[in-house]
Amino acid sequence: MSETEQLLDPTTNRALMDIAHELFAERDVSALCEKVLTRAQQLTHADGGTLYITNPIRPKALEFAIVNNTSLNIYQGGVSGNRVQFTPLPLYDSFNCEPNMATVATRAAHTRELINISDVYDDEDQHKGTTQIDEQSKYHTESVLALPLINQASQLVGVLQLINAQDTEGKVIPFDQKSELILQELGRFAAVALDQQLQINSQRELLAELSSFSSPHTLLPKILKEAQSLTMADAGTIYLMEDEETEPKLRFSVIHNKTLKINKNLLGSDEQSNFNAILLKNEQGEDNLLNVASYCANTKQMVNIEDAYESTEFCFDGTKAFDESTGYRSQSFLTLPLLNHNNDVIGVLQLINAKHPKTKETIPFSKHIEPLIKGLSTYAAIALNNQILLQDHKNLLDAFIKCIAQAIDAKSPHTSAHCQRVPLLMELIAQAACEDDAVFRDFNLNEDEWYELRVSAWMHDCGKLATPDTVLEKSTKLHTMQDGIDLVLARLGTLDKGPTLTNGQTTLSHEEIKEIAEFLTSANKGGEFMKEADQDRVKELANIQWYDLDGTPHPLLSDFEVMNLCIPKGTLSVDERKIINNHMQVTIDMLESLPFPKKLRRVPEFAGGHHEKMDGSGFPKGLTREQMSLPARMMAIADIFEALTARDRPYKPPMPISQALRILRNMKDSNHIDPDLFELFVRSKVWEKYADMVLLPEQKDIESGQEYLN
Ligand SMILES: [Fe+2]
Ligand SMILES: [Fe+2]
Repeated sequence: MSETEQLLDPTTNRALMDIAHELFAERDVSALCEKVLTRAQQLTHADGGTLYITNPIRPKALEFAIVNNTSLNIYQGGVSGNRVQFTPLPLYDSFNCEPNMATVATRAAHTRELINISDVYDDEDQHKGTTQIDEQSKYHTESVLALPLINQASQLVGVLQLINAQDTEGKVIPFDQKSELILQELGRFAAVALDQQLQINSQRELLAELSSFSSPHTLLPKILKEAQSLTMADAGTIYLMEDEETEPKLRFSVIHNKTLKINKNLLGSDEQSNFNAILLKNEQGEDNLLNVASYCANTKQMVNIEDAYESTEFCFDGTKAFDESTGYRSQSFLTLPLLNHNNDVIGVLQLINAKHPKTKETIPFSKHIEPLIKGLSTYAAIALNNQILLQDHKNLLDAFIKCIAQAIDAKSPHTSAHCQRVPLLMELIAQAACEDDAVFRDFNLNEDEWYELRVSAWMHDCGKLATPDTVLEKSTKLHTMQDGIDLVLARLGTLDKGPTLTNGQTTLSHEEIKEIAEFLTSANKGGEFMKEADQDRVKELANIQWYDLDGTPHPLLSDFEVMNLCIPKGTLSVDERKIINNHMQVTIDMLESLPFPKKLRRVPEFAGGHHEKMDGSGFPKGLTREQMSLPARMMAIADIFEALTARDRPYKPPMPISQALRILRNMKDSNHIDPDLFELFVRSKVWEKYADMVLLPEQKDIESGQEYLN
């Protein structure tokens, strides 16, 4: 039994015990605050009261958690009251940082003692704030009882203040000694219960906040900032573990020093290599326990050092050299491991030079702060580990996607690096749209959407993996595994030397054969539209006979060769065109079969529409402009422009930009590509940026491109 309990009667003690159970069972801070205040009012017969709470880690102000006044019928805060309309009471003067003693509540917070005032109007120093409120509300505050709520780590959690104790007839009287004892006892439970819930809440908020970061790059500085703020540390470093399996080391990742104004985020930067990593093993392969950070990582223990210069346990040569070069004085160190859910070290958090809150002198890190920083590091490690795992998966996915694109490009040297250049063009077009303040002023991409766009561009032709090489590679009409024109020319050659090789007799002169060879060679290229007369001539030439070694005659051209040589446009037959076009359906099927996460869910649509036309005559779905997203329409232009201007296709010379833009404009005029995007492409000079990066200087044969705008 506590001293206070001994002074109270059994009934009151029982009531207090019931309240204690009630408070410890409550998990909601608002409900808890309401219970604390209402029970305190009931037990002390107080007409009104306020419960203030504060952040025990960084107490800056007393916030009104709940305000009750029975006579005035005021109920603000808690779970059943209205919204609190009072502004928090600052604990320190904002100008001179002196403790604010102007109100009873802040005075109780600073003195950490119970304050019992019989009549605030008799108390010269304490009634200024009270009289102001009284004037506004026509209330008369008289007796006040204020108790600071202190947690088990001796930190201020809040202040419980009661006003106007009443006797049985409702007359205002001073708070008696019994009320003081009751409030002290109740305040003891309330402080612990409130502290627990506030800690849980602040940890929950911290975890939610840390989890909201989308990459270690942004998360790490936030962790360090929180850790420095919590421990009042002037400086800090976060090291990340690398090469755990081979040569484990701690890599400097984030460095912050307030005094020296150093703020470095080294993650993934070239500068990171300037900082020597700390090896976890020495040359003998033993744990490196000399460096405090590697000690932490090896032993998974927190180390609190009052003064590095006095330390005999660890080597601080690096720190001393740093101090010498900067004039800084590193003194107190708090170093702790960041452990993931498997209890593996993923990094080390090091805080340097705790500062006294008022004098700003360097002091040792308090023992009280150790469990708090440990808690923070646990949440930080969870969030960080999630990010590292996510990043690993993302890196793997990126590499896999690029691998597929490279495999497609490798399948066809004739289309070279098409799958790698379309993403570049896509980025340029999308960037132009993001920067546009006219037609595309509402178009913008966040980090995730940019990623979705890039993945789509990299994967846009993935279905070509299933396209036979003989079709994909068909650079001439007679090309199968190799160009069949050579065989045709060889047959013609036998005719030219007929009498010596066969028993047949050629009726064609050498010049005629040469002319036929030239005609067929030209027809085989498929560069321009083939006239009907030329197609008829091919069929006619097929009837020429050539003789094999046995003297058996054969037609000069097989049916297969005639059919291919008569392809009116390009090099592909109708069937082959179907096979090629099918790459789009395969692309869509492949992408739709992948369980893309929500952030990448539009990849199949973005990637699968690049052969659609605005008038609905494209393939594979025959979508119209209205049925396609803007990125899908961008992809169509990127795909065409890359294919037109590709400078390394063996069967055609590099096309100048003027011609490519002319073709694109024709496609726009015939409603095949998006007119607004074409205009953006020309106006924003996407073509020029792309040419500067990828094309040959001679392909850039225009200046402004204005002539392609209507
Ligand atoms: Fe394609
Ligand atoms: Fe393509």
